[in-house]
Amino acid sequence: MTKRVSIFALIAALALGSGIAVFTQEEAELPEIPGITVEDTHPLGCVDCHKPRPDIGQDFLSLEIKEWAEEGAPDEIMNVAKAAWPEASLTGKHPDVSGMVAAQELPGVCLMCHTEDSDKPLPPAVHLIHFSTKPEYTGEDPAFLRIYGGFCTQCHALDPDVGTMTMKSGKEKTE
Ligand code: HEC
Ligand code: HEC
Ligand code: HEC
Repeated sequence: MTKRVSIFALIAALALGSGIAVFTQEEAELPEIPGITVEDTHPLGCVDCHKPRPDIGQDFLSLEIKEWAEEGAPDEIMNVAKAAWPEASLTGKHPDVSGMVAAQELPGVCLMCHTEDSDKPLPPAVHLIHFSTKPEYTGEDPAFLRIYGGFCTQCHALDPDVGTMTMKSGKEKTE
């Protein structure tokens, strides 16, 4: 009796197990990657996110940089800068570039100074600021990961039909 029950249970478990496997395979959905499988809601990159958003303490990058120029950059930003640019000697006070940052395309205007061959290249700092989960780099709230899913295609545009990758770009719209 016990044996028959356990064989029955085994067959039932196997049937159920394979049933679940077939089900999940059929139901598996494509991941929702901006610009690849779903519409890209931030086609201009930086400037489509960096506008006034008091809930996460964010403003136009031109205004944040103005603050860094006047008061010095916050500790998290300086921790990132020191980690990303070990060769650079930093004062903490950004040059006041708020006028040019407000008027020109981002991130192109940043890349004019933060060049690949300088001691302050942009990518490691920007990647660390957005992707780190360490509170000393991003504060208690890794908002880029939490709110925006942490997709590379929030900043880089990948054409899924051609395979080429470009940098999204745009100007701040203050009106
Ligand atoms: C999809 C939205 C999104 C895009 C696109 C984006 N950022 Fe951010 N960025 C954020 C969020 C959210 C934070 C806050 C950091 C965190 O906690 O994750 C942030 C933080 C920053 C910071 C630190 C100061 C601050 O505002 O907190 C800088 C500087 C920055 N981003 C620059 C850039 C640049 C330059 C680009 C374009 C190359 C860019 N970002 C693109 C969402 C975005
Ligand atoms: C005119 C040249 C120039 C431009 C344009 C520029 N930067 Fe900088 N950036 C610097 C210099 C110089 C420093 C080092 C400041 C210091 O001594 O700490 C710096 C430092 C930084 C730091 C570390 C914080 C600090 O104050 O040291 C971050 C982050 C940064 N820049 C991001 C950006 C982003 C994002 C943009 C575009 C929105 C940008 N920069 C545009 C020259 C520039
Ligand atoms: C918040 C904006 C942002 C996000 C998100 C982002 N990048 Fe970048 N990335 C940049 C910027 C700005 C540059 C410099 C572009 C240039 O020089 O024209 C860059 C450059 C690069 C480069 C070339 C320079 C280098 O460091 O070797 C690679 C590779 C790269 N990114 C990979 C990635 C990958 C992989 C992801 C996702 C895990 C990612 N990026 C997500 C902003 C971003």
